[in-house]
Amino acid sequence: MTGKLIVNGRKKLSGQTDIQGAKNSVLPILSATLLTGGENVIHCCPQISDVYSALRILRYLGGSANLEGHTAVIKCDCITRSEIPENLMREMRSTIVFLGAMLARTGQARICLPGGCELGPRPIDLHLNALRKMGVSIDERYGCISCRVRDRLRGAKISLPFPSVGATENILLSAVLADGTTIITNAAREPEISDLCDYLTACGANIYGAGEGTIVIDGVDKLSGCVHTVIPDRIAAVTFLAAAAVTGGKLVLNGTVSSHLDAVIPLFEEAGCRVIAENGKIYIRSPERLRAFKSVRTMPYPGFPTDAQAVMMSVACVAEGTTVFVENIFESRYRHVEELTRMGANIRVANRVAVTEGVERLFGANVTALELRGAAALVVAALAAEGKTEIEGINFLERGYENLEVALSELGADIKKV
Ligand code: UD1
Repeated sequence: MTGKLIVNGRKKLSGQTDIQGAKNSVLPILSATLLTGGENVIHCCPQISDVYSALRILRYLGGSANLEGHTAVIKCDCITRSEIPENLMREMRSTIVFLGAMLARTGQARICLPGGCELGPRPIDLHLNALRKMGVSIDERYGCISCRVRDRLRGAKISLPFPSVGATENILLSAVLADGTTIITNAAREPEISDLCDYLTACGANIYGAGEGTIVIDGVDKLSGCVHTVIPDRIAAVTFLAAAAVTGGKLVLNGTVSSHLDAVIPLFEEAGCRVIAENGKIYIRSPERLRAFKSVRTMPYPGFPTDAQAVMMSVACVAEGTTVFVENIFESRYRHVEELTRMGANIRVANRVAVTEGVERLFGANVTALELRGAAALVVAALAAEGKTEIEGINFLERGYENLEVALSELGADIKKV
């Protein structure tokens, strides 16, 4: 535990804030640096604990990796290891993105994975099936996965039964240095996939169709480092929009790509907020009382992102009327509901559906975050609530948000870490 947050709610937010680089982009990009010779300069790296863990993994594997401000400088010319030890693995859930990169770089990889995670079971069958098609032999024992490829990875036709983000990333990382062509159908189309492809292309990879359902990769013999700027974090942007909405606030978010939020911004408008997106900025002005926004169904991109479900539920909690949430991506992604209920929210959950009846007021309470986006949802609810909220478990928040409490207090929130 790294402490807790104390929030005194119902302070209107106003002002402007810069949006951090995307966590879900930077992690696969950092693992992709393993594939390159020479120097990588990665700008807009968020200062979050998952990034620190990824840099520690790169150093453990033999690379040099330093973060100065928001710029990481990485060299992976002397990679000496191809396994991630358990202590590093425990620090970061998404170590699986290192699998494809380690394999492509060294011909072998060993990772031990925890059985479940904060979002329920997190299977990796799609990753492993794809790697097998590319010539990898895989031994799974006692929760550890050992992969080996005899000569070189070979290109393959891979049709994903579900457009998994992580599986698409691992296939890309394996395919860029494989022998021949790889075709991924039903690939994930998230902006973070396009960002990874942009990085790899700048390193010398041949990738066609990034951001589309079919991606074609012609393997090359080697990749060199490059200079790359990570895209803005669309989920951090939604979190600030939500914070503005529930406090009747007025904010400007700098450094955003509003098209990445096409499935989300209309919900804020439906709730009665005025939202204008232009020139990389998003302006939001919120009414005194929000209206419910009928339904939210999480889907693969370009649908509504599962990572924004929890914070939008906090918005729905104080909006007038009924909002229905359907979580289609993860099995167990309503762990914030019980804590929101402690603050006076009216939410009923049945399997993948949560029905929120907006209340006039939430009230401060002692609550505990159990995962990253749930933690952000509790912060948003606390900003809306009457009185004092204490939020424990903020180590989860720090996995993905850079100094959220500092940014919010600069915008007028009464929030501090103790
Ligand atoms: C990534 C994001 C996460 C986001 C999710 C969906 C990172 C570090 N994490 O996670 O924040 O919530 O995308 O947008 O980028 N599945 C299988 N078998 C597999 C792989 C996935 O059944 O081999 C299932 C999962 O259990 C889940 C669904 O597919 O139900 C989506 O998973 P996936 O898209 O792979 O998400 P992640 O890459 O884990």
